[in-house]
Amino acid sequence: MIDIHTHILPGIDDGAADLDESLDLARAAVADGITGLIATPHHANGKYMNEAGFVRNQIEQLQATLAENQIPLQLYVGQEVRVHSDMFDAWNAAELATLAGSTYILLEMPSSTVPKRMLEYIHEFTIMGIRPIIAHPERNAEVVQNPDKLREMVEAGAYGQVTTHSILGGFGKQIERASWQLCRAGLIHTLSSDAHHVQKRGFRLHEAYVKVRNELGEEFERCYKLNAEAIIANRELLESPMETSSQKGKGWLKILNFFQK
Ligand SMILES: [Fe+2]
Repeated sequence: MIDIHTHILPGIDDGAADLDESLDLARAAVADGITGLIATPHHANGKYMNEAGFVRNQIEQLQATLAENQIPLQLYVGQEVRVHSDMFDAWNAAELATLAGSTYILLEMPSSTVPKRMLEYIHEFTIMGIRPIIAHPERNAEVVQNPDKLREMVEAGAYGQVTTHSILGGFGKQIERASWQLCRAGLIHTLSSDAHHVQKRGFRLHEAYVKVRNELGEEFERCYKLNAEAIIANRELLESPMETSSQKGKGWLKILNFFQK
């Protein structure tokens, strides 16, 4: 399995506090069945700044330490970029990192509201050939109140990433309900852990995929898994299936088409 959103790098945000915690997370990832993960430290969220070049450097060091400790886990460069008005200046200054060198970028909204210019930002990125993935929209209060807010973003060219802990109830009932609602509406394209700490907020990726399969069916599970791999490989993402029977058929056709390519 591939995990596209994690905070495994030591001491640079609110994820792993030091190298020991990074190694604990890496071992836990392997135990969960994860073969590759993207390190996505917070960037420009008002508290942490982790520019692309710095993240690359950190990844190289941690990858070398994993090899020394015989932990078979491939790390990729990423960032969780807080949506802000200077994002495009930061992009031009090469401060932003896409996910694993692909054309996908992970964007984080504030937890209370959807930024006023969110659709403009998505549009701007898509014009540049960069495809925004919205980190855990199920944890944004405005999206929870009105899922059409996320629909507008998806229609503008963005994708949705749901978090394992959200769908497994770790953030409470309301976020759990919102997660499944967004999944069922076809507004979620991939699943990842947003892991910060082995005990407090670990991976639970295998468990979450099993839950997706049981709640929504195999086609959702396959879509989310294939899309995590597609991000690393910089391929087109599959559209999410939806729960209505006609859309379900459409989702399957897209998956079949994908394999026939
Ligand atoms: Fe995160």
